[in-house]
Amino acid sequence: MAIRENGLFGKTSDGREVHSFTLTNKNGMEVEVLDYGCIIRVIKAPGKTGFADVVLGYDDVAGYEKGEGYLGAAIGRYGNRIGKGRFTLDGKTYSLPINNGENALHGGIEGFNAKIWASRIEGDALIFSYTSADMEEGYPGKLDVTITYRLSEDNGFSLEYRATADKTTVVNLTNHSYFNLSGSAANGIDDEFIRINADYITETDKGSIPLGNLMPVDGTCFDLRTLTRIGDGIDDPHQQIAWAGGYDHNFVLGWDRVMKEAAVVEDRTAGRRMQVFTDQPGVQFYTANFLTGAKGKGGAANDRRHALCLETQNFPDAPNHANFPSPFLRPGDVYHYTTCYKFSAI
Ligand code: GLA
Repeated sequence: MAIRENGLFGKTSDGREVHSFTLTNKNGMEVEVLDYGCIIRVIKAPGKTGFADVVLGYDDVAGYEKGEGYLGAAIGRYGNRIGKGRFTLDGKTYSLPINNGENALHGGIEGFNAKIWASRIEGDALIFSYTSADMEEGYPGKLDVTITYRLSEDNGFSLEYRATADKTTVVNLTNHSYFNLSGSAANGIDDEFIRINADYITETDKGSIPLGNLMPVDGTCFDLRTLTRIGDGIDDPHQQIAWAGGYDHNFVLGWDRVMKEAAVVEDRTAGRRMQVFTDQPGVQFYTANFLTGAKGKGGAANDRRHALCLETQNFPDAPNHANFPSPFLRPGDVYHYTTCYKFSAI
């Protein structure tokens, strides 16, 4: 396992430098990441006929700056939605910028995805760090965050998150990679197979805000507990699917915070499998319903439903649901979790 600094990748529109790094292992797997948004730009993963890039992205910084959909980026301070952008903490109500219907999404107007992070290499670890100021994007407390990327010799790419705060705040960090295991953004994902090890989803209203209940997946298109062709459920008449335009739901993995397999995706034509492991309570399965075909890497269109996201996270809108896992981080406590995307040829 080695980490290479590639130097300058480009500049932001206001002239700040963006650098790129490549993690490699002895099998030939490669992951390229940027210090802008901790973006995962390339993952060359094994398949039955060799390695191919399995994530959507852009060729330059401008693509990411104006790009839709948070491709490959770290999301924070609070990933996913907070209903009406409001929550109450220790008796005080906070208001966040509204940027998704009537709700707050993915950390605000300029979330962690659009920040340049400090970087350092320590052995097999590439460590990004960022300090979010008190009240940045409306969130209370200064938050110190590190995200550490590692690539193992068994083709596991891991993301380790740590954060501490000087005042009580809310935190929900994730990564927004769009995977297409065929190795080409030109292919849709209907023919890929998925398993998600969850008995419940958090049922939502039509704006994707949880109602508060856990909806059993039994007998619905959300029962993905055995490998299922994505196309079989993506247009199901279920109200939850109709409202979201496909899958865009938080699957409940459990409260135990134990590292376990959350999901598996297989592209049987390319002979490629990805397993997702995490100790987070939930995973948002999103079938890129809102992509609109902007030009991505190599001029390929990033089309609607031509990729999928498995965003490991706490439940959406947890600050407003006392029965959900706590999203609150208090001074002296450490927010800490790990997700690993593991690839194999099948
Ligand atoms: C998440 C959300 C989606 C969408 C994307 C970004 O996955 O759940 O509804 O907002 O991010 O486009």
